Amino acid sequence: MKNRVAVIGAGNVGASTALYLAERALADVVLIDRPEMEGMPQGKALDMQQSAPLWHKGGRIEGSTDLAAVKGCDVVVMTAGFPRKPGMSRTDLLKANADIIRPAAEAVKQHAPNAYVVVVTNPLDVMAWLFWHTTGFPKHRVLGMAGILDSARFRAFLGMELGLSAADVQAMVLGGHGDSMVPLPRYTTVGGIPVSELMPRERLDAIIQRTRDGGAEIVKLLKTGSAYYAPAMSAVEMVEALLTDQKRLVPCSVMLEGEYGLSGMFCGVPVMLGGKGVERIVQLELGDADRAALHKSAKDVADMIAELKS
Ligand code: NAI
Ligand code: 2OP
Repeated sequence: MKNRVAVIGAGNVGASTALYLAERALADVVLIDRPEMEGMPQGKALDMQQSAPLWHKGGRIEGSTDLAAVKGCDVVVMTAGFPRKPGMSRTDLLKANADIIRPAAEAVKQHAPNAYVVVVTNPLDVMAWLFWHTTGFPKHRVLGMAGILDSARFRAFLGMELGLSAADVQAMVLGGHGDSMVPLPRYTTVGGIPVSELMPRERLDAIIQRTRDGGAEIVKLLKTGSAYYAPAMSAVEMVEALLTDQKRLVPCSVMLEGEYGLSGMFCGVPVMLGGKGVERIVQLELGDADRAALHKSAKDVADMIAELKS
């Protein structure tokens, strides 16, 4: 049977996600926006459907302004929400986007009770927690997308610096999707060679900082809105791993219950991602500094969850 994926939010990230999913012929896609936007998701979906003859592949794509259209979906990608504006922190988005997450999560709970969920909306780790909390879904079925994007940025910058293909750069960025994210140079290699053997420490430090600022750099350049091509591709990597049982080892934001000494919040850690969602959380032996940085990042998430609860 053909897979079906719902993408909630037909803005920049959502529409790009729908397009990449359909282009890869991974699933039939329904692109959903709010009722006030009647015609917009349908128009974008029809435009994409008209490019299907040129992809030489199948894949149906439709638009809707009714959250009930998530019915029967195997995976839901949640992208609805406000993006950051220049000078605005992810935290500023907290309450406004929570009001968007709750009804969407209720609709998924009602109409797609067996779905896997990939949350993209910011502030990412808190919105993923809220989606999980609202649906009451088992924790292996709700994931936040950030680590793959942050790692892709780190990999891209390293590839650019070294003049080597970023495809050969392996890297892992853990922690919350925010300024306190935790790139791990110790686990970063290029063609199997530790990155520390390929560049001086100060260049690596500069690239780590650029990775932390990766989203903000694009916000500043665009002036309106935030990044969407790499975020959408990162979400599609997760959907593909879920639908095709890839057993990928990738960083994702997941509910922690004791792993890394952390509990009660979503935070980015390495997981095995396959047909049953989060099939395993991989526990690394972090050094003291990385462990402290991860705990600091997780505390930032926990503080925002507490703010939301209050
Ligand atoms: P956008 O403004 O282009 O699109 C957002 C869409 O959500 C709009 O079309 C809007 O009408 C829709 N929407 C709002 N309320 C809705 C509701 N109740 N039901 C259905 N649709 C609704 O924004 P963009 O660039 O697509 O970003 C979306 C979200 O993703 C933002 O919160 C942004 O910060 C976040 N983001 C997260 C990333 C990550 O790494 N986790 C990376 C990039 C973006
Ligand atoms: C990003 O990292 C805005 O969170 C978004 O691009």
